[in-house]
Order: sequence, then C-alpha cells, then structure tokens
Amino acid sequence: MSEKSIPYKIYLSEDEIPKQWYNVRADMKNKPAPLLNPATLQPMGFEDLRPVFCDELIKQELDDTTAYIDIPQEIRDFYKMYRPAPLVRAYCLEKALGTPAKIYYKFEGNNTSGSHKLNSAIVQAYYAKKQGLKGVTTETGAGQWGTALSMASAYLGIDCKVYMVKVSYEQKPFRREVMRTYGASVTPSPSMETEIGKKINAEHPGTTGSLGCAISEAVEVATKTDGYRYVLGSVLNQVLLHQTVIGLEAKAALDKYGVTPDIIIGCAGGGSNLGGLISPFMGEKLRGEKDYRIIAVEPASCPSFTRGKFAYDFCDTGMVCPLAKMYTLGSNFIPSANHAGGLRYHGMSPILSQLYHDGYMEARSVEQTAVFEAAEQFARVEGILPAPESSHAIRAAIDEALKCKETGEEKTILFGLTGTGYFDMVAYQKFNDGEMTDYIPTDDELNKSFATLPKVEI
Ligand SMILES: Cc1ncc(COP(=O)(O)O)c(C=O)c1O
Repeated sequence: MSEKSIPYKIYLSEDEIPKQWYNVRADMKNKPAPLLNPATLQPMGFEDLRPVFCDELIKQELDDTTAYIDIPQEIRDFYKMYRPAPLVRAYCLEKALGTPAKIYYKFEGNNTSGSHKLNSAIVQAYYAKKQGLKGVTTETGAGQWGTALSMASAYLGIDCKVYMVKVSYEQKPFRREVMRTYGASVTPSPSMETEIGKKINAEHPGTTGSLGCAISEAVEVATKTDGYRYVLGSVLNQVLLHQTVIGLEAKAALDKYGVTPDIIIGCAGGGSNLGGLISPFMGEKLRGEKDYRIIAVEPASCPSFTRGKFAYDFCDTGMVCPLAKMYTLGSNFIPSANHAGGLRYHGMSPILSQLYHDGYMEARSVEQTAVFEAAEQFARVEGILPAPESSHAIRAAIDEALKCKETGEEKTILFGLTGTGYFDMVAYQKFNDGEMTDYIPTDDELNKSFATLPKVEI
C-alpha cells in the first residue's frame, strides 16, 4: 500500500472493538512468578486472595494458560462510548522532525478520565457489581486511574473511595473535583484515617506520599469494610489483560494497511498500558512468528527497570499487600515529586518484569525536562496536549525518529499516547517558567532501599 493512502487517523468500526482480551502469559515459556502471602511468604491461591479482590478478577489474575478471555457484552457496550480509540499517523511530527521514520500513536486520551485507565476501571467495577459488592477502594497517583474508577463506579451505581498520593492531590485540585463530581470520596495519602497512614506519617514526617503508601491505605480500608474490595489500576496481570484492547485495536488498524511496526514504545509506571499495547505483538514474538523492538520508558527519578532489582517485594509501602516478583526499587523507596505522578511506583508488572528479564524487551530512563521538551514539541505540531506520563513515550519515539534521520532508515515506530495533560498545568507552568528540575536518585539512596527488600526463598 502506498504511503499516501494511509489516513491521518485509522478508525476501526464499533464491531471491531475486541471481543476477547489476549492473555500473553499463555505464550510465555517462563510464566510470571506467583504472588506471595505477606504473612507466610507462600504462593497465594484463589481463597487467599478473596478478602482483597473480586472473585472473577482473581480467576483472571491466576490464569496463566487461557490465551483468549471473552469480554462481557456489557463491558463492550461501555467501551463503545469511547472506543475504538484512533490510531494516528503522526505526519505533522514526522515533518517537523524531518525524519524518514513513520510514526504512529495509539491515542487513549479520548474519554473524560483522559487516559487508558478506563479500559480496566470499567471491568473491575463491573465484576464488583456482579458480585453484589457495595463498593471499591483504590489508590491514585496522577489522578487518571481514580477518575476512571469514579466514572465506572458512578455508571454502575457502586461506591468508590480513592486514596490520592498527596503530592498529586495538592498539584491537581481539579482532578480531585472531577472524581468528587462522579461521586467518589477522595483522601490525600498518607492520611491520618488509617493505621498504616498514621504509621507512614510518623516514620516519614511531611512526606508527599507515593503510590505504594496509597495502596496500603486503600487495601486496609477494603479489608476492614464490609462489602468492599480493593481494585488496582496497574501492575497486576488482570489489569494488563484488560488493557490488551489497546494493542489488539492498534494491531487490527495497522494490519488493515499492511503496516508492521519495527519499534514499539510505551511509558511504564506499573506497566499496564505498555503491557496492553505490546501484548499481541509480544505474542507473535514469543511464538517466533515476528520480531519487534519493544522499549519501556520510565522516569530517571523512579527507574525500576533500569536500576531496580528483579526480586520478590511488597507491592505497597505498608507491606500489607501480596509480594510480587518484579523489577523493584524497594517498597520503601519514595520517589522525588516528579510531575509524572503515574510513573512514581517502586515496582513493575510481574509479566513485563519476566519478559524484560528474559530479554524480550528493552528499557530506558529519561529526565523530566527532556520529557516536557518532547511534550511541547508534540503539542505544537500534533495538537494534543499530552500527559506527562505519556510524554515519556513521546521522548523516546522522537529520539528513535531522530536516529533514523541520521542513518536514513525508514523505520516504523508505534507508541502509546496514554492520555491528555489538561490537569497537569502546574507541571507545564513550571516547565514554561524554566523552573522544572531533574532529580536522579543516587546509588546510595537506592542501596538503602534495596537493603530492606524481603528475604524470600522460593
Ligand atoms: C496517562 C497515564 N499514562 C501512563 C500511566 C502509567 O501507568 P501504567 O504503567 O500502568 O500504564 C499513568 C498512570 O497513572 C497515566 O495516568
């Protein structure tokens, strides 16, 4: 197909919204390691996980073998409100860069939550409702996940309690008000409402919080409140599974035009958007059918893949959650107040961690001023004002496209544009005023945190 015939936006029809999620674990030779019970350090089965998660979601969490899992019709109907998401050919960015590379991005910001998070929020709220629960608790970093879950909970008529990382709560008051408008309660974390919040506040006075702290609080409240379960917006196998609608749609759109990406890029916080985007491509790679270069991009201030250890660790700071084997900076690690709140997590998806460990993907870290330079460049030519998290992927995509300019290679680059940054204007203001700083943790800081990793023999 000639290049000219590829439109700016490739849309699929409503009927082409995926009917099944793709479970990449089915094609992995080395499966992600099981979650461990924080008290006994033994692998957790269905019954162990029931006090925390909804039953159907536990089944998905533990299923390493079923390649395709049906998407309930009610969820497909909800997806129709904002899916299929467009796949955009970044002609304007290519022109501005003067690169021979062909750049595509899958845009997930086209819903009120402003990000891909709604893809899993509606699923988790749906199964909670189906189980007859009263409500759900959760954490939110940047606020996108909390907003998405508030929307999904309002739609299904269940209660939603959100623990929001304090730094984001303060930086993004309007994000908080969106969640409250959807009927959720929003508490800055660490709070003085939970045992774990009080403990963290006592140990780290004045802390601006982290996703790890907020998770501990949300889990505590879920397990102590009748009719509630905890839901998580990233990291878990089930969340990556739900997010595969991103990759399945992207692949279907590219296939229509006979386009095969050489490089696939995504930002990585807990790994859900990246896992969702790459899964169908990774499946082909794992089955030996095709090869792709896959790049995870993370902040230099919170470099779990690039400087972390592949080890069992707690998923939360309060050490009440199961342990996962993942690339981690240590559950004690509290990253600096970087503006990409959704990437400030100490760990990484066990699925992606295993794939990275086995050499199926690369990772790189980038500094936040360089990320905002890329965001600004992108906004000026492509029109969309990107979320700081998504802009990590933009940075890497631009860097790869500029390499093509040097070498003359016409590579095809696909990246995930996970969301919009309209609630991140404090960050953009800092950047515009030249007040943005970069913080990179020292080896000493990381070593202190690694020293607290739990000793697990399994
Ligand atoms: C817009 C956006 N992109 C990316 C992420 C990172 O999360 P994940 O790695 O789970 O996709 C977040 C998390 O809050 C987000 O809000």
